Amino acid sequence: MTRVALTLALTALGGCAGRPAALDPAGPQAARIAGFWSLLLAVSIAVSVLVLAVLLDALARRRGGSLPPPPAVDPRLERRLTFGVAAAVVLTAVLLLFLFVASLRTARALNALGEPDALTVEVTGHQWWWEVEYWDSAPARRVRTANEIHVPVGRPVLVKTRSADVIHSLWAPRLAGKKDLLPQHATSLWMQADRPGMFDGQCAEFCGHQHAHMRLTVVAEAPEAFQTWLAHQRTPAAEPTEPALLHGREVFLAGPCALCHTIAGTTAAARLGPDLTHLASRTTLAAGTLPNDLGALAAWLVDPQSVKPGVHMPPAALPPRDFQALVAYLGSLR
Ligand code: CUA
Repeated sequence: MTRVALTLALTALGGCAGRPAALDPAGPQAARIAGFWSLLLAVSIAVSVLVLAVLLDALARRRGGSLPPPPAVDPRLERRLTFGVAAAVVLTAVLLLFLFVASLRTARALNALGEPDALTVEVTGHQWWWEVEYWDSAPARRVRTANEIHVPVGRPVLVKTRSADVIHSLWAPRLAGKKDLLPQHATSLWMQADRPGMFDGQCAEFCGHQHAHMRLTVVAEAPEAFQTWLAHQRTPAAEPTEPALLHGREVFLAGPCALCHTIAGTTAAARLGPDLTHLASRTTLAAGTLPNDLGALAAWLVDPQSVKPGVHMPPAALPPRDFQALVAYLGSLR
């Protein structure tokens, strides 16, 4: 029974097969949380075992299924019982105080990763995708992407969080705790990855129809690889050379796509939907709903509602030749 409850609790922590994600930290913030979680588990198990032992002992003293006759008042027994109850109360208070202090220390540590060379990234929650903007003192050098946060290994990242509509919650369990993204209210959290890898994230606050399809990936890479990625993201979209791609770009710019999306280097500069300048360099489409390949891209464009019901993107109702050119063009935006 306890094992089943434990398994359920572990699964709820975001794990899939094997070790739950939150208990397999890949950075100092997540390690702090996992450490505090283990402490809580150990204390809870110890207290449960103690309480059960006392209960079993009391049951064992019942003879023949009936309560023993009330003993005559024995002052020594009275004193022992009073002492026992007082000791249990003091022990409980001390344990609660200990856990309170440990919780405060963990919370302080989670908010204290700040270093002068920290990277600042702003994450904005939308129904139902993540906008990610890399801060730079020169506004023209800022980079915007979607549903993927690239971070350099070993460097603290200050994630400034906000929401464009309803409350969302950012949670990449192997790197940091949850943080609610609130409309009209800025929040932030620190994260740091200690090893390269792809780390899953998910919106952790019910935010509407497609809450479950609001996933993100944190890509942790070596500092040089990160700088290369960032420099590439700063470049405008590649100029199409093939006629089909040129036609696809015309379709994009002349149609409704350009009313919601940006492609740097073109006249499309709207910010209602994700920035598509380097769309093909990302790993997923529609915030983790589809893999990022041409087939999935075509399926997404032709009928977004069947892929992600309730999504705000309209279907691309185009003649076949225009549609194919549009898919090829978007697929070329590496
Ligand atoms: Cu955003 Cu749930």
